[in-house]
Parts: sequence; structure tokens; C-alpha cells
Amino acid sequence: MHSALADEYRRLCRDAAARQPLAYLRLRRAIRNVVEQRVVEPGQTLPSERDFAQTLKLSRVTVRKALAGLVEEGVLTQRHGAGTFVAERIIKPMSRLTSFTEDLRARGLDPRSEFFERGIGEVTPEESMAMNLSPGVAVARLHRVRYAGNEPLAIERSVVPAELLPDPMLVRDSLYEALETRGFRPRRALQRLRAVPLSARHARLLHVPAGSAGLNVERRAFLDDGRVVEFTTSWYRGDVYDFVAELHSE
Ligand code: GLP
Repeated sequence: MHSALADEYRRLCRDAAARQPLAYLRLRRAIRNVVEQRVVEPGQTLPSERDFAQTLKLSRVTVRKALAGLVEEGVLTQRHGAGTFVAERIIKPMSRLTSFTEDLRARGLDPRSEFFERGIGEVTPEESMAMNLSPGVAVARLHRVRYAGNEPLAIERSVVPAELLPDPMLVRDSLYEALETRGFRPRRALQRLRAVPLSARHARLLHVPAGSAGLNVERRAFLDDGRVVEFTTSWYRGDVYDFVAELHSE
């Protein structure tokens, strides 16, 4: 058993502020914390269910529930017969509306943006259709490469109505953080995914060979009142991202 993991679990049991009556949620939190702090690195194996249960004096059902929750969140992966690992690829559950920054931080990675463009312009006819905006209105445009540390992962082009983001320079690394500060955090989104070969330019920016597999994602996000808050097109590197969706029969 990784002693830091056991220590973190015991700390959460003691810590009154973090007191969580349900043991499986406490364990889930403890594992998430050590992954975020990079005490356990991507690709590393976690202790077995039995090991967890014995060391922490928990039932195996509790341990199984905690691990299953983290697999669903994309923090861990399980291989039959081989155990549970900290996820190496970035596994993005599609049902949760999270930002690039949040997805990376949850995996202990360091999100960064490099901007090509961050300014105000006039909406294009295509954007005005997609965003339900009148022709000619002002929009903020962000065009950037998204990194984990020094590794480029995606290229994103975002358009936001200027009435919601009048000063795009407010966006440092995270668009959603800037929107949240102004009370305009997206609440719901429609997303479309397509497999694409990366163009020579995109491949160069993402440090992969031209023609490598990429994922083209288009997200239209909305506020509670139905206004479109962003229209973003992203090109993710196909070799580092997995998008996972949970499906229900009805
Ligand atoms: C993801 C989404 C984008 C969204 C972005 C916000 O990458 N595909 O549609 O704009 O997250 O991330 P951040 O707040 O880190 O800028």
C-alpha cells in the first residue's frame, strides 16, 4: 500500500472540515487528492482491492465503489486481470460540462494557453447562425494552443458574445474562469465530435507528424436563459485524448 495514500485517507477521516460520513466517498476523495498532487503518477498501479480493504479496514464493496467512481470520472483505468492504474491518456467523460483547465488539473497536470489571437471583432455569418446573434454584433475571439506543461494537446478557437466578455484580455489561462467571474459560467452544452487527420499546420503546432489522427470537437455552450455563451472549435491530438460517454437505454 502506498503510504501517502493511506495517510491521506486517514487525514480525511480525522479532518472535521472534510468529514464525509460515507467511507467510499472519503476514499474516492483521498485517491483523487494523491493523483492531483502527483504522489501517484499516471500509469502507476494502485493497491489491490484487498490491500486497500485490509490496510484501511474497509469492506471490499466500499473500496470497489470508490474505485468504480474514479474510473467513471476518468481519473483511473482498470485492465482485467492487471489491476487499477492512474489514467495515462486524458479521459474526458462527455456528460460533464468541464473546462480544459479543470480536466487537466484533476489529473495533476499543469494547463497553459498560448494565444495567437485575443481580441474583439465582428461576428461572421456562420457564427451568427451558430450563436443566434444578430449580424454585425461584436464578439470576443480567442485562438490558442492548449498545453499540459510544455506538451501541446489541443488548438482551440472560441467565440464569445462581447456583451458577456467585453475584455478578452481577462482570459489568462481559462476562459471558463473568466466567464465565471462575470457570472456567465456555461450551464449546458451541445458538442459534436469528428475524427479528422490533422492539417500540416495543426500537426506542427501540436508536435505530431502531419496527417496524424485528431479529434475535431465543436461545442456550443449556453447560459440558463438560453443565450449562447461560447462557440468553440477544438482540434485535439488523437493520441492523448479519449472521450467517454455513458449511455442509458432510455
Ligand atoms: C474545453 C472545451 C472548450 C472550452 C474550454 C474551456 O477545451 N472544448 O469548448 O472553451 O474547455 O477551457 P478553459 O476554461 O480552460 O479555457
